[in-house]
Amino acid sequence: MKNIAVIGTGYVGLVTGTCFAETGNNVTCVDIDANKVERMKGGEVPIYEPHLDVLFERNIKQERLKFTTELAPAIEDAEIIFLALPTPPGEDGSADLSYVLGVAKDLGKIIKEFKVIVDKSTVPVGTADQVSAAIREETDIPFAVVSNPEFLREGFAVDDFMNPDRVVIGTEDEKAKTIMNELYQPFIRDGHPLIFMDEKSAELTKYAANSFLATKITFMNEVANFCEIVGADVDRVREGMGADTRIGHRFLYPGIGFGGSCFPKDVSALMKSGNDHNFNFSIIDAVLNVNNQQRIKLLDKVLDHFGDIEGKKFALWGLAFKPDTDDIREAPALYLVDELTKRGATITAFDPEAIDNVKNVIGDKIEYAKNQYEVLDGADALLIATEWSVFKNPDFNEIKSRLKSPIIFDGRNIFNLNDIREKGVFYSSIGRQTIIPKV
Ligand code: UDX
Repeated sequence: MKNIAVIGTGYVGLVTGTCFAETGNNVTCVDIDANKVERMKGGEVPIYEPHLDVLFERNIKQERLKFTTELAPAIEDAEIIFLALPTPPGEDGSADLSYVLGVAKDLGKIIKEFKVIVDKSTVPVGTADQVSAAIREETDIPFAVVSNPEFLREGFAVDDFMNPDRVVIGTEDEKAKTIMNELYQPFIRDGHPLIFMDEKSAELTKYAANSFLATKITFMNEVANFCEIVGADVDRVREGMGADTRIGHRFLYPGIGFGGSCFPKDVSALMKSGNDHNFNFSIIDAVLNVNNQQRIKLLDKVLDHFGDIEGKKFALWGLAFKPDTDDIREAPALYLVDELTKRGATITAFDPEAIDNVKNVIGDKIEYAKNQYEVLDGADALLIATEWSVFKNPDFNEIKSRLKSPIIFDGRNIFNLNDIREKGVFYSSIGRQTIIPKV
């Protein structure tokens, strides 16, 4: 059992704090938002993440998970202090470290004994050194700064935290290594190691891992685009490639590009980090360019089919950047909306979770429907931007009767080509043959 403080109760801080409480530690979460702290004390989970609520309630009830706005009392007994603070991207793509360094300075003023201070936020290479320097300016008390990046996927964060593929710990301080090793023992299984390294390597591991996955997806998107030109089927190519264990099946699904709060931000930050050191990450540059084009891939297909789209009406299935989340950050659907409306088209959209968030950002630029069928009424075509389960087995007769003509552009390849052949719809997807209905 350890006493832990987690500073920042965003997505990463909350999952981290709750999961450490679940493994028997005493955790105090600190946030400057008094209103949010009060709500959390009452058991309200401020984010949507499957399975978090059960663990949250249990650990609050059993008094292992507490909340406060006061930094000093929270860290007094804490052996380990996690920094889970926002690092928003600046204009040039670099991560803004002012929250992290501000708290580091505050910690320097109040620590009275050795503390392990852990960077959990995704931060550029060299941040641990900057955090150390900010604390050192304020105190002579010994401390260790550790880089311990998170690899949580939205929608699977609790499972990813409790059953990690690996845990990366960046520190060369022996005392900190022992403490972190003890803390993470409950999460370690055969073949899923705790990997110790220096701080900078740990920081870079996070960016390199996310950028590699983004590259893997982007590579497949380009292969898919080429499949369309030469008449190959990307499903078969993906199957054939993925069966090579060196490649693997995951993250090979082509579509309308990656989005979300992590991949676009981390890929841009790695590019910027390279630039700062006069290093041109040319592969990352290409990934960003290809993804920018891929996000509006359905636009090209729509223009090819219709020519001028001024006055056309489109139904859109999916607004979230991926299924099972209400997150619309860097969602390809929104880029598509932008391009279509710019050309005079109107859009009615449906998403099972993300409509409220979209309304907050683009308001009545588009119309919203209450289910996936209502959205189709009188539309010239259906566009699919997110692969929600509810879209995968629809009533095609209903689709055909509501659309002006039975035309579907699918940016996530949610239908099997053999099945769709029988449905009597025009169907254009990514990297696969376009199905034209028999007349
Ligand atoms: C990601 C990483 O997976 C996680 O380890 C990291 O710490 C945070 O960023 P997340 O953003 O929640 O997690 O989503 P993820 O499921 O990884 O998908 C990212 C994007 O890639 C989505 O836009 C998704 O649609 C896209 N994607 C994913 C594909 O286009 N094809 C694939 O095969 C997989």
